[in-house]
Parts: sequence; structure tokens; C-alpha cells
Amino acid sequence: MGKKLLTANINIPGIETFDVYRKNGGYASVEKALKTMTPDEVTEEVKKSGLRGRGGAGFPAGMKWSFLDRKSEKPRYLVCNADESEPGTFKDRYLMEKIPHLLIEGMITGSYALGARTSYIYIRGEYMYIVRILEKAIEEAYAAGFLGQNILGTPYSLDLYVHPGAGAYICGEETALLESLEGKRGNPRLKPPFPAVAGLYAAPTVVNNVETIAAVVPIVNGGGDEYAKIGIGKSTGTKLISASGHINKPGIYEIDLGLPVEEFIYSDEYCGGIWKGRKMKAVVAGGSSVPILPADLILKTAKGEQRLMTYESLADGGFVSGTMLGSGGFIVYDETACIVRNLWTFARFYHHESCGQCSPCREGTGWMEKVLHRIEHGHGHMSDIDLLVDVAKKIEGNTICPLGDAAAWPVASAIRHFREEFEYHVKYPEKVSNPKHFELEP
Ligand code: NAI
Ligand code: SF4
Repeated sequence: MGKKLLTANINIPGIETFDVYRKNGGYASVEKALKTMTPDEVTEEVKKSGLRGRGGAGFPAGMKWSFLDRKSEKPRYLVCNADESEPGTFKDRYLMEKIPHLLIEGMITGSYALGARTSYIYIRGEYMYIVRILEKAIEEAYAAGFLGQNILGTPYSLDLYVHPGAGAYICGEETALLESLEGKRGNPRLKPPFPAVAGLYAAPTVVNNVETIAAVVPIVNGGGDEYAKIGIGKSTGTKLISASGHINKPGIYEIDLGLPVEEFIYSDEYCGGIWKGRKMKAVVAGGSSVPILPADLILKTAKGEQRLMTYESLADGGFVSGTMLGSGGFIVYDETACIVRNLWTFARFYHHESCGQCSPCREGTGWMEKVLHRIEHGHGHMSDIDLLVDVAKKIEGNTICPLGDAAAWPVASAIRHFREEFEYHVKYPEKVSNPKHFELEP
């Protein structure tokens, strides 16, 4: 049984209220940090913990905090990225909906460490009901003296706001998010400068994912060294995984990083195996933006080593035989799933969500969608398969933000691992153009 650092109290009745949260040890990290630690000491604990960004990139959180330009005369900001939109990813929703004060506590402790006096939670517009949950929790925190002027009688003051987006996936990219927060169209900015130097209103800003900020609470309470004892190597701590697809027990699981992938998929504690007694065909391990892997490669690396739920092990083999932990959106496909149709669905999504600033992404995602549509609907040519690979290559690495790569990697990896399935679609159009050729219903 793994540690439950974020979810231990999540099912306590009333935990969404300040009183119940507080009675169960809530806001202890704020008291500890503000009354007994300097901001640099809090940052140091986060560094020691080895915590890596839980939104998907896995960038070391403590390092990001230490990059914040503290010499600037401008105000500093902590912005929580709650624009959770990655297909297959629904873990932040779980935390915010069930235990909103955990995020607010992390925001206060994190803002203190960074010297921010105003902080924001930017949340996707589709989570409007959670906006209300968070706003109620923030109101309670103000009333209890954990937000506002002179928190707990200390010199530190903080105002916290929730800002809903308007339904654009691209606003989850940190610089597009900042543009949107400033009231502009959510177009990604060129980096550098990174937000740590010029972020919100061109001031030093840290943008962290919901789960990353929530993890600051157990790190400050228990110490960075203790947190770093969980996990393996540079993948420390626990991670929320949203598991979906053809498994017996879809849901959200808090795992210790380092758990074998096989145990995660087949043990009753987690996914409970593949449904209906079928075989596993493939897995997308970290949300739709990462390479798809066939069953054998998700369980064992190309070197024959057991694959673990860590940033390193999942990526072993690079883009040839590896994938990424990403946002922890773990989608499992059984043997009846159609890889081409699945890929076409992803391609439609990325084409629709491309902001259109860079030609390779704007045009390439459209091309990939069109070509996949015709292969899937029985009008494809053999040359289309290499055309897709070519378009994906032309997008990769040639765009302003990672959306282009995110659209290209699934295509390139699906063709690498499942080329025969694309060929089958071209050779036997009469079989595959039947919309029932893959199973939608349970
Ligand atoms: P990134 O690797 O460009 O950046 C990671 C973070 O580190 C950023 O906050 C960046 O500002 C910071 N950083 C990197 N180098 C820095 C430097 N030299 N100085 C200061 N700061 C620096 O990746 P990005 O764009 O933040 O995230 C991409 C990932 O997001 C994808 O891999 C995907 O898995 C994930 N994603 C998650 C979604 C979700 O709903 N959770 C949605 C879409 C993508
Ligand atoms: Fe916009 Fe796509 Fe370029 Fe990102 S890669 S800036 S989404 S056009």
C-alpha cells in the first residue's frame, strides 16, 4: 500500500469545509512556515524534496522557485495552473472538488516562500462548479485569518483569486495562461524569457500545477528529506494517476513513484486488470500528448527491464520505445480498440485547439486530422502512412509551444508501433469503414 500524502483525508465527510479540514490537521504548513521558517527555508525544503512539476513536464519545482527573480522591484506572483485539459487527465479536478483547502493551503505556503502578495488560481472554464467550491473555501480561509492582511498576526499578507478560463486547451500552456489572465487572447509567448523572470504583467512569476502546489503541504509539514525517501532516484514522492479506458477499476490513484507498471495495471489495489478478461493492446501513460506504447513495451523496456511508474523508467528508450509519465493520465486500450480511430480523435482535438500562431502546428495538425480521417473511413492510400510520419516530423521541434509536439508524438509513435493496423485500414477499407469495427459500448 503506497503513502497517501494528498488523499489520506479526502473521504472524510465535510473535509471541503474549513472547520473539518482544520480539525484534521489542515493549515499546519502555513503556521509552521509563517511562524518558524524564512521564505528561503521553505524553498529549501521543496528543493530537498525533489518534487517535480506534476502538470506534465516534471521540471524540478524547487529549482523553478529558485529561478524566480527576487531582485526585481516588481511584485512577484504565484499562479496555480488548474486549467486541467489534457485528454485522460482528471486528477486536479478530484483534489479541488473534494479537498479544496489543501490547494489553498499550498498556495499560501508557496506564496510566502516566493514573496508573492497576490496569487491566482487559473482554472478551466468547464470546471465552473469547482470555481464556486474554491471561492467558498477561500472565503472561509479569509474569515479564519489565513488570507488577507497580517496572516496569523505575522507581517505576511496575501490575496488569492480564482480566475476561470473560457474553454481553450491552449490556456493550460503557462504563457498562454498568463496572457489570458492579463485579459488577452491566450496565445503562447516565446520562451525565454521564462515566467520566472517575466511572467504575469512582465513580473517574476511561478506557474505550478494544482498537484504540485498541494504537495508543498506534506513537504513543509514532514520535511523535504522525508518526502524524498518515497520514490526512486529523481522521481520522488507520490503521484496522482487518473486511470481510464478498458480496465476493471478506472479512477484516481495516489501511487508511490517507482511502482511497477504491471502492478499498477493488474493489481486489485489499482486498475484491477483489463476488463472482460481481454488482453491489453496499448497504453497512453501520461495524457494524450505522449507517445503510445504497445502492451509489451509498457510492461518492460526494450532492454527487458521492468517498467516503473517513474519519469525515467517510462521514458527509457526515448521516443523509439519509451513514453512519458506526463500528467499521469493513464489510458489503457484492450485488444478490440482501434488505434487509427483513437489517433484520429486525438488529431481532431489538437487541430481544434491549435492557437494558429505557428504554421507547422496550424497547418500540420489539420493535415494529420484530414489524412487520419480518410484512412479511418476507408479512403486512405499506402503513401498516406509515410505522409503522416513526414508531417509529424515537420511539426516536431518547430513550434512556439509544446502543443505542436504533443500533436506529433502520438502520430509518430502509433505508426512506429502499429503500422500494420494502418496498412490494414488501407487494404481492407470495406471492413474498417464500418463504424462498428471498434467497440464503443461496454
Ligand atoms: P517545459 O518543459 O517547457 O517547462 C517546464 C517548466 O519549467 C515551465 O514552468 C518553465 O517555465 C520552467 N522552466 C524550464 N526551463 C526554465 C529555465 N531555464 N528557467 C526558468 N524556468 C524554466 O514544459 P511545459 O510547457 O510547462 O509543459 C509541457 C507539458 O505539459 C507536456 O509535457 C504535457 O505533459 C503537459 N500538459 C499537461 C496538461 C494538463 O492538463 N495537465 C495539458 C497539456 C500539456
Ligand atoms: Fe499555437 Fe500550435 Fe504554435 Fe503552440 S505550437 S503556439 S498551439 S500554433
